[in-house]
Amino acid sequence: MIDATTIVIFGASGDLTRRKLIPALFKQWRKQRLPAPLRIVGFAFSDWDTATFRSEMDSGIKEFVEEDFRQASYDDFCDMLHFVQGGFTESDDYARLEAAISELENDTTNRLYYLATPPRFFLPIVEQMHAQGMVQESDVAWRRVIIEKPFGNDLASAQALNTSLHKLLDEQQIYRIDHYLAKETVQNIMVFRFANAIFEPLWNRNYIDHVQISAVESVDVGHRAGYYDQAGVLRDMFQNHLMQLLSLVAMEPPASFEANSVRDEKAKVLKAVRPISPEALASHTIRGQYAGYRDAPDVADGSETPTYAALELYIDNWRWRGVPFYLRSGKALQQKATEIIIQFRGTPHNMFPIPADYSIRRNVLALCIQPHEAIHLRFETKVPDTDIDMRSVEMNFEYDLAFGKDSTPEAYERLLLEALDGDPTLFTRADSIEQAWRIIDPIIQGWQTAFAPPLDEYVTGSWGPASSDLMLSQAGRHWRYACAEH
Ligand code: BG6
Repeated sequence: MIDATTIVIFGASGDLTRRKLIPALFKQWRKQRLPAPLRIVGFAFSDWDTATFRSEMDSGIKEFVEEDFRQASYDDFCDMLHFVQGGFTESDDYARLEAAISELENDTTNRLYYLATPPRFFLPIVEQMHAQGMVQESDVAWRRVIIEKPFGNDLASAQALNTSLHKLLDEQQIYRIDHYLAKETVQNIMVFRFANAIFEPLWNRNYIDHVQISAVESVDVGHRAGYYDQAGVLRDMFQNHLMQLLSLVAMEPPASFEANSVRDEKAKVLKAVRPISPEALASHTIRGQYAGYRDAPDVADGSETPTYAALELYIDNWRWRGVPFYLRSGKALQQKATEIIIQFRGTPHNMFPIPADYSIRRNVLALCIQPHEAIHLRFETKVPDTDIDMRSVEMNFEYDLAFGKDSTPEAYERLLLEALDGDPTLFTRADSIEQAWRIIDPIIQGWQTAFAPPLDEYVTGSWGPASSDLMLSQAGRHWRYACAEH
């Protein structure tokens, strides 16, 4: 890329900048994929100067970038870093920020603003920038704003934020982040579905019994309890990441890979998801909390915040009518595993004289997102040297084996590149965010009423509350751990 660019990071002294953003930019700089000349300006309230910023980021790179990327000196990279101290709501500080940036660039320099701040500052920052003329584009220089999550706290606040932002920015200037969309394995869902002819004809209610989408984690809430106790698992993982996975698995084939084509289909399928009615909450939702959560610092006494949830959702359209989508996510579980399971229907008729204690197992397709990136297809085979004994085996594709170890870059690397490149496909459009809230909001609200299922405690290191298993077993199904097992 050859285009003078300045990246301005709001919240530059925070964890995200040091752990993710700067290491991601550094790696892409090493791969010579960043625009040049480039300046990275940090803005935050912390009492830092450029020297502090450079040394903090230097230590971040040492901690979070693999050795072989660092070998030679990277003073040139650190020379691109600058820091301006200021408050997110202080207009004088924005005037200083603008002056400092202008000194580093000329009229044709593009700008990417990254809002790595608590959500309450998203709008004030854009308002201040707008007032200083910092988001005004010209024929030769663009201005883009990346907004972190959570985007809104419910449907009303997300709508209000979108409305306010649209008064200050064009939708095409806004890049709402969902880092799941930039995971290689998540992007591959579209390639798998739409660059292969053999799966899509089966991808519907005629052949698929149900779909499972799991994003389970072994970590507990750790030092984020203050935020998490307000948010809970539905806001933290479902409204964004799980809804995005659901839309990629269930959407209709877009006509092209152009951003709006893809985003139209994603919004459309979310729109078809049936909201769970208050009466259905007890049978279609599970809420859990791990034992010991309430003792964590910053968690309110007697907190009812769920750290685990499972949902049974339905998509009311021609393709998916009647097919359950089971979604689950939780903290402090046995392992980290993000996976999508497509459970196919059984054969219509059994012609084999199989033993009474054996039943033909159904085909399962597992898309393993992380940590073991892979795709597995389970099918039945005849055991050699038997009359007609059968066994299930798997066809396995492992990313590491096919493309080499560590072939998958961190999500933030891809997202920053795409935003610099002006491609919003991997960012969430206003309508998708609102559709996702439309699905999640009634559950969050319903859980405050007498319709709520009980808050089930589960043991740390388990697979979550027993009620979650029960929800599936009552329908003759069970949660699969296809990727965790490998
Ligand atoms: C974040 C959530 O968005 O995603 C965290 O706020 C969660 O609670 C994280 O741990 C999981 O991301 P990943 O990439 O580790 O699966």
